[in-house]
Amino acid sequence: MKKIEVSPSILSADFSALCKELRLCELGGADYIHLDVMDGHFVPNITFGPVVIKSIRKCTKTPFDAHLMIERPDKYVKDFISAGADIITVHREIKVDIKSVLRKAKNYGAEVGLALNPDTPFEKAKEHMDSLDYLLIMSVYPGFAGQSFIPDVLKKIREAREYIDKEALSVKIAVDGGVKHNNAKDIVDAGADILVAASAIFSGDVVKNIKDFKNGKI
Ligand code: DX5
Ligand code: ZN
Repeated sequence: MKKIEVSPSILSADFSALCKELRLCELGGADYIHLDVMDGHFVPNITFGPVVIKSIRKCTKTPFDAHLMIERPDKYVKDFISAGADIITVHREIKVDIKSVLRKAKNYGAEVGLALNPDTPFEKAKEHMDSLDYLLIMSVYPGFAGQSFIPDVLKKIREAREYIDKEALSVKIAVDGGVKHNNAKDIVDAGADILVAASAIFSGDVVKNIKDFKNGKI
């Protein structure tokens, strides 16, 4: 069976007990922690920034992926990395120069990801694929946890998988939004390496929910 990596998004965690939640993620074998940073401009919601990331960095050694749903990541890349983000993921739809943001994040020692909204074609990622560690394919419109998976996105996952294999790139495909135990198999079969999930993990037994994803009980 293909190895499935899991990245719990703390957006649905208990924010009054984040350290405890992160330790449960470790116990479940989470490969990353997904941090949904929202600025109220790029998306309609506001979440948290480097101050919170810095304070939860001491709770776990699991790599942090900062999914920056913000208009100006170029201004804050250094702050997020200093706070403890290991991976900086920016959106293809922002209006700043993507290449220079990615370069900046790499220069500060982070890995980099590029996120695609559901209506952004894979084609738009191609010119950046060489410099990426991760491609984050959004399967909901970003802004909120608990939305339903958009099945049309499976085609884009397949297209990205074919391209990565054909070009022999080492980019991992992560899928984010509406990922549940009952659709994870389709997502993995389409070519995803990493499942990002908030509500499917933080409702109920966190350890079991992560293990079930990882063990293919999907
Ligand atoms: C959406 C975020 C997602 C979200 C996923 O804007 O980027 O990471 O937390 O939540 P679920 O898994 O509940 O759809
Ligand atoms: Zn996310």
